[in-house]
Amino acid sequence: MTVPRMTVLVVGATGSIGRLVVDEAIWQGYAVRALVHSPDKTRVLAAGTEAVIGEVTRPETLHGAVDGIDAVVFTLGSDGAGKVGAESVDYGGVRNVLRSLGSRKARIALMTSIGVTNRTGSYNRTTEAHDWKRRSERLVRASGLPYTIVRPGWFDCNGPDEHQLVLLQGDKRHAGDSSDGVISRRQIAEVLVHSLNSDHALRKTFELVAVTGPAPDDFDALFASLDAEPEGSLDGVHDMANMPLEDEPERVRDDLDALRANS
Ligand SMILES: NC(=O)c1ccc[n+]([C@@H]2O[C@H](COP(=O)([O-])OP(=O)(O)OC[C@H]3O[C@@H](n4cnc5c(N)ncnc54)[C@H](OP(=O)(O)O)[C@@H]3O)[C@@H](O)[C@H]2O)c1
Repeated sequence: MTVPRMTVLVVGATGSIGRLVVDEAIWQGYAVRALVHSPDKTRVLAAGTEAVIGEVTRPETLHGAVDGIDAVVFTLGSDGAGKVGAESVDYGGVRNVLRSLGSRKARIALMTSIGVTNRTGSYNRTTEAHDWKRRSERLVRASGLPYTIVRPGWFDCNGPDEHQLVLLQGDKRHAGDSSDGVISRRQIAEVLVHSLNSDHALRKTFELVAVTGPAPDDFDALFASLDAEPEGSLDGVHDMANMPLEDEPERVRDDLDALRANS
């Protein structure tokens, strides 16, 4: 497939999903820029990728990365870094890149996770990773930028015949294990990149899993089957209302206000 040659910035490009996003974006015809914070990892990137060194927790390092871009795919992850990592990277990284965009109207694709609205499970109680990822979703919605938010199921836990994509809304699967849904890393990358070029994916948030069956070839039809978020929404269209804004930390409310004011 050929798309107009737009430049997409991949944030988290050296990660297990990000590097596949880089491959997929190149294959779909994008010019690809990778934000890299460990320079030695540049070697994992496909030939033809422009690597820019930056650290999402240090906004002053991000200007070169966002200069001239048309789209951003976020696949950041701070696994193992606990609550501090979840706030500073999974949330703070999204906030800092969005702020760095200034008035640039970039298309956004954000990867978070299935189960992101589950606040009471042991994983979130230990790491707050769901809460901070969900807050990063809220930042994207508040930014006023055109966006798609993808909440994948369990990476590469799919069987060899499980490639039929199922897009769900409302984040109702909270087992906290692969019974919530499975999906190949490759297909996550495909969906993230396809969303950048689809009007049907605009202002849509969905869980992404695969079941037994063939891979799709019409991504627009998949996106078109979903409900969009009304403009100004904080949460996914059918999400449970279990994160009241008035109970949120003041610094989070300030971040939302600042992005809204800039939108
Ligand atoms: N495993 C699952 O089944 C599953 C399912 C759903 C969602 N998820 C979520 O997916 C995420 C993991 O995705 P993944 O496997 O692609 O993660 P990963 O391989 O750990 O990659 C994370 C990326 O973020 C980058 N990064 C981390 N800190 C950074 C910083 N301060 N500045 C710039 N870049 C930074 C990493 O850079 P370096 O490589 O240089 O460190 C890497 O490129 C997790 O957050 C997890 O919650 C996982």
